[in-house]
Amino acid sequence: MFNFKEKIAEEIAKTIQVEKSEIVKTMEIPKEKNMGDYAFPCFRLAKTLKKAPQIIANEINEKLGKCDFIEKTEVVGGYLNFYVKKEILAQAVIEEFETKKENYGKSEYGKGKNIIVEYSSPNIAKPFHIGHLRTTLIGNALYNTYKYLGYNTIGINHLGDYGTQFGKMIEGYKRWHEEYTFENPIEDLTKIYVRINELCKEDENVLELCRQNFKNLEEKKEYEVSLWEKFKELSLSEFYKIYDLLDVKFDSLNGEAFYADKMQEVIDILEKSGKLIESQGAKVIDLEDKNMPPCIICKSNGSSIYATRDLAAILYRTRKYDFDKCLYVVAYEQNLHFKQIFEVAKLLEIDEKYINGLEHVSYGMVHLKTGKMSTREGNVIKVEELLNESIERATKILEEKNPNIENKEEIAKKVGIGAIIFNDLSNSRIKDEIFDWDNILNFQGETGPYIQYIYVRTKSVLENAKITPNAEKINTADLLEPEAIDVIRTIYNFEDTLKSVTDKNEPYILSKYLIELAKNYSAFYNNYKIISEDENKTNARIYLTYMTNVILNKGANLLGIKMPDKM
Ligand code: ARG
Repeated sequence: MFNFKEKIAEEIAKTIQVEKSEIVKTMEIPKEKNMGDYAFPCFRLAKTLKKAPQIIANEINEKLGKCDFIEKTEVVGGYLNFYVKKEILAQAVIEEFETKKENYGKSEYGKGKNIIVEYSSPNIAKPFHIGHLRTTLIGNALYNTYKYLGYNTIGINHLGDYGTQFGKMIEGYKRWHEEYTFENPIEDLTKIYVRINELCKEDENVLELCRQNFKNLEEKKEYEVSLWEKFKELSLSEFYKIYDLLDVKFDSLNGEAFYADKMQEVIDILEKSGKLIESQGAKVIDLEDKNMPPCIICKSNGSSIYATRDLAAILYRTRKYDFDKCLYVVAYEQNLHFKQIFEVAKLLEIDEKYINGLEHVSYGMVHLKTGKMSTREGNVIKVEELLNESIERATKILEEKNPNIENKEEIAKKVGIGAIIFNDLSNSRIKDEIFDWDNILNFQGETGPYIQYIYVRTKSVLENAKITPNAEKINTADLLEPEAIDVIRTIYNFEDTLKSVTDKNEPYILSKYLIELAKNYSAFYNNYKIISEDENKTNARIYLTYMTNVILNKGANLLGIKMPDKM
């Protein structure tokens, strides 16, 4: 597609002693529409050239040659603003769209690069809490977007399925399993876990039995392994109720247990590095010079821990996937953990490229409008119930708005789930999220349902028009109204938007983009008749509607949201 940014940078580069690639990097897309399509800020140049930014902007402006894709330029403060020729913009978008259609925005940008996205990663026999919902949704959106940009993407659910707690679970299960139905397996397993913990506190001997169970599990004794497998199966069947509702998939479910027999190598390497030291009976890597507490590698009782399994996973993944990036979508509560293991990973004798590729993609907490959502017992928000409640609420709204609607159930599911997903992905991930039903399902707000609503509108316009969108017959002069150009400009930016999502690992950039596209289309729709006597205009406007339709659908799908046909 005609790359305005590059072309403008080329022109600027002719006037100053700065590399074109540098100019491209500093160029911005102004937030205000009346500031043009692109802006070149001159503040950084001011330092090297020892002149005021505004003077530099003026000088560049004067030296700029005439170029046929620029409508006008303007100096505002320290910025040089560029207005591109609308016909050329419209032409570029239509041509690109015509060649790519449903694949618009898809690229080979990431070709040859291997990206691991590790997400969801709930713990076996423990509730799937609202934080796990966030990692699942953020991870899924990133996974989809990387894939669309041509990266070889590997989605891993690093299940929390190992650790000494399983020795306890086994003991509790042995003793009391007949008292439970396991209809709600995770609930019952949690109850057993609480009970066995109490007993362990009272009775040292029981604790010893638990230790023995875990040892047997580590040694792969049949009985313990079979119980562990049972817990895993029961838990996964619960987790998959949620994954199925969300339609989330993984390429690998290799969790912590998978690394049980791969930790010794890590310990050996660390041992050899001379950095593994004894501390109160445990083996640790001292990180004082990095201002961090030591990273424990082996506990005093000899058993390995969470961090060691993560290190073994890093080693394994370098070999198995040769990753360029390995993203960990995990709550910010684990910031220190990841800082520690990324530091210790430097001792694993792996190529620096792998170290540089490790990235903790952290995210904030969820608050109910009425306060913090606690995961403490008794006050646990059950994710499956939350999703189903959203579907129920969506059903009620649909019944009010459109009582005779067909396929109500299917639509309500798309709207209810879509609303939750969009809400989760609508702000920078590190921000704590406010969960407020009224907002989430508001058809007029900046919400999932709003995007679906505008999408449904484009669909019905296309159906009513009964003509096939035809790019060849378009005269770009028919698409120059400011509202139409706003839609076109947004469409032009789709691919760049996806690239920013992956550059920053921030799905909200796409969420905001979709709101902008929906709003821009809505403004166009409200101000102009799409279908009229004028055949050419009708054709052009239908094509605009068609492009909007495809991109709203594609973008929403990348976030994990499905679009209803009617609403
Ligand atoms: N299972 C952990 C939890 O629920 C998250 C695992 C994160 N991933 C990792 N590689 N440590 O808190």
